[in-house]
Amino acid sequence: MNTNFSQKEIVPANYSLLISEQKIQQRIEELGKQIARDYAGSVPILIGVLNGGFIFLADLIRYINIDLEIDFIRISSYGDVRESSGHVKVLKPLSADIKDRAVLVVEDIVDSGLSVQFLENLMSAFGPTVLRFATLLNKPSKRQVDVSIDYTGFDIEDKYVVGYGLDDAQIKRNLRSIYVID
Ligand code: IMP
Ligand code: MG
Repeated sequence: MNTNFSQKEIVPANYSLLISEQKIQQRIEELGKQIARDYAGSVPILIGVLNGGFIFLADLIRYINIDLEIDFIRISSYGDVRESSGHVKVLKPLSADIKDRAVLVVEDIVDSGLSVQFLENLMSAFGPTVLRFATLLNKPSKRQVDVSIDYTGFDIEDKYVVGYGLDDAQIKRNLRSIYVID
């Protein structure tokens, strides 16, 4: 396998590199080890938030060396525009029963916080024993509601980012590094 793939990644001229593939993987390894320690003794359910969170979930679980289950939920708040509408809808509900289970919700990025607030209200109603949130990226300056995030990959500035699961009008999720659009 070519592990230097990201150095040759071809991106549009108005994209600049923010976080390299290598830095992403190093940080996810640290988060995975911490999550394994914190959830030891339970078989947690990790819930990926589609669409953006699917690559982070896939990589994260391979750094967590305890038994775990996965599930996905799909919500929408953005459509194809870059500003939060504040209206969150469930497009694909949970399949797993999370009552009396240790849960970790895995997000790509927390911006206004409205998605996390919505997910926390929705999921706590099912009665999990533990409900925590992980996000690869966090934009603290954009927060509209106060939410508590238990595991954060990187705090970033208020710039629109793409790659590693995050989209630019639905495309570019397959980039291996994270880029800022100028
Ligand atoms: P929030 O509800 O405003 O916190 O928005 C969270 C969701 O908006 C994320 O899960 C992403 O799907 C999307 N989002 C927010 N900022 C960005 C960005 O910079 N690039 C791509 N998607 C983003
Ligand atoms: Mg998301």
